[in-house]
Amino acid sequence: MPTPREVLAGWLTFQAQGCAELGSPFYASLLETAVADLDTEGAVWEALAGFETEPEWSAVALRMMGAVHRLVLQDQLPQLAAHYPSVGGDGDASAAWPLFRDALHERRPDIRRLIARGCQTNEVGRSAALLGGFLEVAHRTRLPLRILEIGASAGLNLRWDCYRYESGKSGEPGEAGWGDENSAVRFVNFFDVAPPLDRAAEVVERTGCDLQPIDPTTDEGSLSLRSFIWADQLGRLSRLDGAIAIASDVPAQVERNDAASFLQRELEAPRTGTATVVFHSVFMQYLNEGTRRRITSTLDQAASSPRPEAPVYHLSMEPDEERFEVRLNGDLLGTSRAHGTGVRWLAP
Ligand SMILES: C[S@@+](CC[C@H](N)C(=O)[O-])C[C@H]1O[C@@H](n2cnc3c(N)ncnc32)[C@H](O)[C@@H]1O
Repeated sequence: MPTPREVLAGWLTFQAQGCAELGSPFYASLLETAVADLDTEGAVWEALAGFETEPEWSAVALRMMGAVHRLVLQDQLPQLAAHYPSVGGDGDASAAWPLFRDALHERRPDIRRLIARGCQTNEVGRSAALLGGFLEVAHRTRLPLRILEIGASAGLNLRWDCYRYESGKSGEPGEAGWGDENSAVRFVNFFDVAPPLDRAAEVVERTGCDLQPIDPTTDEGSLSLRSFIWADQLGRLSRLDGAIAIASDVPAQVERNDAASFLQRELEAPRTGTATVVFHSVFMQYLNEGTRRRITSTLDQAASSPRPEAPVYHLSMEPDEERFEVRLNGDLLGTSRAHGTGVRWLAP
């Protein structure tokens, strides 16, 4: 039986590795040093003790990083901010560490309160992984799309059609791409192998649900989403900011509801003249067995009575052992990394 400190050290180490692999050396370094600090029963232990009883998937390490980042974004830790790239700092993790540790100690009640609130992210990059699936449905059906997202968080991926996707590496005008060239959200260098982009798609209805939806158009919603971006990942931060700005102009309701109930209601009556795409990303792992079964059975039922004038498709981007898989009605279309980079389209 691991001790509480061992549990927490395991989570911090796992998160440090994830940050290193996904291009956040600043967070990777802070987290590695935090593991060593746990042994001293110092500030990291003070901040995290007790949270080791939470489930593994609840991202306690990311919640600690998000709590400190939130205070930095709110200009409450000016000395530490000098090293946080998200607010113009130099990204020097060694110089940041003592200030980070002091913040955990001095702001302990605030930090623990923020950690206790949980982690709620919405990764806009996953639109790049999902893009080819939406275009495939539009291409097959020649129908406008009605998109339903389960586990939508702030609903930023419900606006996937408002973003610009470049298949090339430079993002220069004239390269093959899809979407508004002037969009505030641009995906450049996301595709190792791009899906076919010479396909039109029109979204006529966008709705989602989440147990804890975030309204990205409010100050609180935007601050919360920004706080969970890794502080040296300026591309992610800028795409998030662009998506938040677009969300103000392009409404998409995300209702507070359980995915199984939402889906049952939304798929009850066929919607003639549109292709319905039920989609989700990094969502299935959070479901209990009952909810998972209800969702699968609702989708199976829709698939078992196909209507050419009101087809229903199921698009997903979920983790496999090594990569994230993009599937349409169960068929593997492509793979990507966790935040939607490295898309490798496999479908012909
Ligand atoms: C890791 S987040 C992913 C959010 C978004 N899909 C993305 O890729 O950025 C998982 C989301 O699923 C939501 N969730 C978990 N269980 C749910 C359920 N039973 N019904 C609806 N939403 C749920 C969580 O609240 C959270 O917003």
